[in-house]
Amino acid sequence: MCGIVGYNGNSNCFPFLISGLKSLEYRGYDSAGVAILTDSVVNLVKTQGKLDNLREAFAKAPLQGVLGIGHTRWATHGEPNDINAHPHKYGRVTVVHNGIIENYRELKEALMAKNHHFTSGTDTEILAHLVEEELNYGSEPLAAIWKTIGQIRGTWGIALLIDGYSHTLWCAKNGSPLILGQGTDESMIASDIPALLGATREMIFLEDGDVAQLDGPDIRIWEGPNVPVERAPQTIQWNPIMAEKGGYKHFMLKEIFEQPRSVADTIGERLHADTRTVTFSDFIFDPKRFDRVFLVACGTSYYASLIGKYLIESTARIPVEVDMASEFRYRNPLIGERDLLILISQSGETADTLAALALAKEKGATVLGIVNVLGSAIARKSDHTIYTHAGPEIGVASTKAFTAQVSVLVLIAIHMGIATGTLMGEALAELVGAMVRLPKQINKLLSQSAQINVIARRYSHAPAFLFIGRGINYPVALEGALKLKEISYVHAEGYPAGEMKHGPIALIDEELPVLAVAPEGSTSEKMVSNIEEVKSRRGKVIAIASQGDTNMGNLADDLFMVPRTHPLLQPILTVIPLQLFAYYTADIKGTDIDQPRNLAKSVTVE
Ligand code: G6P
Repeated sequence: MCGIVGYNGNSNCFPFLISGLKSLEYRGYDSAGVAILTDSVVNLVKTQGKLDNLREAFAKAPLQGVLGIGHTRWATHGEPNDINAHPHKYGRVTVVHNGIIENYRELKEALMAKNHHFTSGTDTEILAHLVEEELNYGSEPLAAIWKTIGQIRGTWGIALLIDGYSHTLWCAKNGSPLILGQGTDESMIASDIPALLGATREMIFLEDGDVAQLDGPDIRIWEGPNVPVERAPQTIQWNPIMAEKGGYKHFMLKEIFEQPRSVADTIGERLHADTRTVTFSDFIFDPKRFDRVFLVACGTSYYASLIGKYLIESTARIPVEVDMASEFRYRNPLIGERDLLILISQSGETADTLAALALAKEKGATVLGIVNVLGSAIARKSDHTIYTHAGPEIGVASTKAFTAQVSVLVLIAIHMGIATGTLMGEALAELVGAMVRLPKQINKLLSQSAQINVIARRYSHAPAFLFIGRGINYPVALEGALKLKEISYVHAEGYPAGEMKHGPIALIDEELPVLAVAPEGSTSEKMVSNIEEVKSRRGKVIAIASQGDTNMGNLADDLFMVPRTHPLLQPILTVIPLQLFAYYTADIKGTDIDQPRNLAKSVTVE
C-alpha cells in the first residue's frame, strides 16, 4: 500500500513523478504529493484525494527541478488529509514512506522531549526528524540514514531528499517493495514495475535491509553500514503498453478482455500437449517428500486456493488444506517438514501472506509461491516460484490474475497427478486437451459480453444479490459476489447451493436476484433442484450454464452460456461472466471501478 516514485537526472522531474504516481495509484489514493529540489531547497506540493487534486494544486504552484520524489497514500496512521499527505519535511530532510514504523510513538515522545515539533499524525514524519537529528550531530547523510534505520522497527520503503544536496536521492527498503530504474543519464525509483516502464526496462530490485544512493545515473547500494553490495539489473519484459488502458474505459475491462492472452501465456511452454506432461523451471513435485499440501492466500487469491483444493485432491489424491493467510498465521497450524505450502498472491506483497510464509518456513515446510509481480517479496522468499504471466494488473479488483492463478493450479494438479500416478491415460489426455482449447474458448465467451451488459442493466436496481454454486464452482460464486461488492458497493453473498435450505433461502423474494453458477457436471441435477427451490419462492434466477443446456434455459429468468469444457476447468470460464456482471453493474452505477472506495490493490499491512 502507498506508492513511491523518485527521479534523479537532467530532465524536469514532474512529468515522470506524476505519470509514475498515476500507475501506482492502485496502491492507495487517499492523498498524493511531490517534493522537488529547486535552488538547493526541497519544496512540497501535497493534497488530500486523488492525483487530479495534486495536478490542480501543482498547476497553481508549479516547481521546476531535476530531482524529486512523490507519493500516493493509503492511510494507516493519521486520517487522509492535506497535512498527513506525504512528503513530510522537517528541517532539511524530506521523506516519503510506504509501510509502518511500529515504534514511532516512543521515538516521537523522545524527540518531543528534545523540542522537536511534529505537524502530522503520521508515523512517517518521525523519519525526517530522526535523520535531521543525526545531521545536527554532524553525521553525513548516509550515516544519518543508517543511524535512523537502526532505531526504527517495522516495514519501510523510503525515499529521501536533503536540502543542500542537489544531486542525491537516498532510499531504503525493508518489507515494502522498492525498485530502482537504471537509465542512461538518469535513475529512478518506484514501488512497482509499471511506474518505471515508460523510462527504462533495466531494473534493480532492492533487498530488505538495503540502503541506496542515487547520484544522477550512478547507483550505489549497501546492505549494511559500510557494506556495499552489487545488485545486478534485470531486464523486464513487460512493456509500457501493457500498463495502459488501450482504448478501454477502465483497466478492469481491459484486464477482463486480456484473459485469452494471459491464460495462454501462463500455460505457455509448461504444458507439453504432445507428451502430456507439465514442467516448471523452478519446481518439481516429489510425492515421496510431501504428505500434505496447504494453500494459503487472501482475497481473490484465496478463492483461487479453494479451487486449487478441488484440483489437487481430485487429480493427485493428496490432502489439501486451505486457509486465509490472516487466519493461518494465528491458528498455530500443524505444518511441518513433510508439508508443501503453496502461497498465492498477485502482488507478492500481501502482509498476511508473507507472515504465513515466514511461519511455515520456521516450521520447516517447503514453500512454493504462485506470484504475478516479478521480484516481489513472496517470489524472492519462497523456496520455489511459479509466475502467473498475467502482466501488470492495475484495476484494484483482480480479474486476469485470478484466471492465471487457477491456470497455474491446474498445471500443478496435472504435474502432481502424474507424479503420484493418479492421473494417466484417457483422464490425463482429456484434461490436457481441454487446457489447450481454453484460451480460444475464453475469446469466444468474451465476444458475447454484450449479453451480460443487458442482464446487468435489467438487475441494476436490485439492493442485494445471492451467488450460488456447487463443487468446484462454489468458489466461483464467492468470487462473483466479492467482485460485485468491491466495485459496485452492492451487497452480495456467495453460498454453496446445497446450504441454501439452512438459512439463505429465507431471504428469497422477488427483490433478491440469485446468480447460479451451474455448468454441466456431476452436481448439475442438484443445482437444478436448488434453482427450482428459488423459483418456487418467486425468486429471480440468472444462470451461468453450459452451451446447449436447454434444461437451464427453461428454468432461469436470464441465462448466459459458457463453452463446454473439462469439469475441472469450468471455473476459468464461469468466473468471466461474473467479472463482467460486476463490471457492468458498477459502470451503470457510476462508481470508481478501477479504484473503489476504501480499497487498495496490495495490502501490505495486517
Ligand atoms: C487486496 C486486493 C485483492 C486481492 C487481495 C490479495 O484485497 O484488492 O484484489 O485479491 O488483496 O492480494 P494478493 O496480491 O496477495 O493476491
